[in-house]
Amino acid sequence: MKKLLAVLTIVCCFGVTAAFAVDGGEYYKKHCAACHRDGSESSKAGGDVVLKGQTAKEIEMKLTGYKDGTYGGAKKRTMERVAGKLAPEEIQALADYIGSL
Ligand code: HEC
Repeated sequence: MKKLLAVLTIVCCFGVTAAFAVDGGEYYKKHCAACHRDGSESSKAGGDVVLKGQTAKEIEMKLTGYKDGTYGGAKKRTMERVAGKLAPEEIQALADYIGSL
């Protein structure tokens, strides 16, 4: 079962890469994991939010919201800086990746 999931994940990631030319998983590891770890636990650096379990749609809405200033909590400045640099296709790829966690 684990093997099947791994294969599905690989197929899925390649699909995302082909469609958006951005690998959400790779981008996440480089630019998000320092604060959000693997997404399954809350941490102080990550604003005590848990990303795992949220849908791609929710993540997309939140990242877009940080970018345009319509979403955020007490520590939104941190995410506004992060999200401000993201292109729409990067937001999409990250949302798809996080939604699949
Ligand atoms: C420097 C630390 C840091 C980095 C790097 C970082 N985040 Fe965050 N993130 C936070 C903090 C702090 C919050 C809480 C912000 C607030 O109060 O609204 C947060 C909140 C979020 C939320 C909102 C969660 C919710 O349910 O409200 C999402 C989605 C998110 N981050 C995704 C990302 C993604 C994707 C990346 C990489 C592109 C990333 N973050 C990189 C610190 C970080």
